[in-house]
Amino acid sequence: MSKDPLFLTKLLGAVLVAAWIAVAAAMASWLLYRPATIDTPAYPLMEAAEIEEQPTASAPPSAEAPAPTEAGDGDLGARLAAADATAGQKVARKCSACHSFDKGSGHKIGPNLWDVVGRQIGGVDNYKFSGALSGHGGNWGYEELDSFLREPKAFAAGTRMAFAGIKSDADRADLIVYLRSLSDTPNPLP
Ligand code: HEC
Repeated sequence: MSKDPLFLTKLLGAVLVAAWIAVAAAMASWLLYRPATIDTPAYPLMEAAEIEEQPTASAPPSAEAPAPTEAGDGDLGARLAAADATAGQKVARKCSACHSFDKGSGHKIGPNLWDVVGRQIGGVDNYKFSGALSGHGGNWGYEELDSFLREPKAFAAGTRMAFAGIKSDADRADLIVYLRSLSDTPNPLP
């Protein structure tokens, strides 16, 4: 046992302090996180009778309702039909630091984009693609380009194309019809 005559007193004191801290912490967390008790609701609540009168309010969306993603993306075919290649050429200035667009031009940081619509993804000669594109498979159809240009890293995780993407559906459509025009035999629109 300790020779300190106050040992037991100190021990008791320490235990009391610890208990006090525990109680204070419990009270503090109750003050912070107790379930909200509000007298008046923030918005008017429906009476039970009203709820029964509106069975559709809580019913799941019907099969006929358009899926939200479709509404957000818009129909690509319609967007391309309404798009403007001249406006798309302006959008393409964002790409020209890294891409050339002319027939026969060499690759820059990124591959040449002449005749890119319909060509194999990551397959052009004399350009060293990342595995994300060279191993992707498939061709650059309109859907693929639209998805890649919206968010390159979402379409091909690990792509070396350091470009955030074009969020505007209309700008992407303009850009894609411009890319389509860069060909001796432009692919038909979808
Ligand atoms: C900062 C440079 C940079 C910018 C800006 C950029 N790209 Fe790229 N792009 C690249 C690189 C690098 C690759 C090759 C990526 C890989 O191998 O993963 C690439 C690949 C591509 C490919 C795939 C080509 C193929 O043959 O598979 C397309 C299509 C493309 N870019 C279009 C665009 C368009 C359109 C823009 C403008 C909206 C753009 N890029 C902006 C660097 C860039």
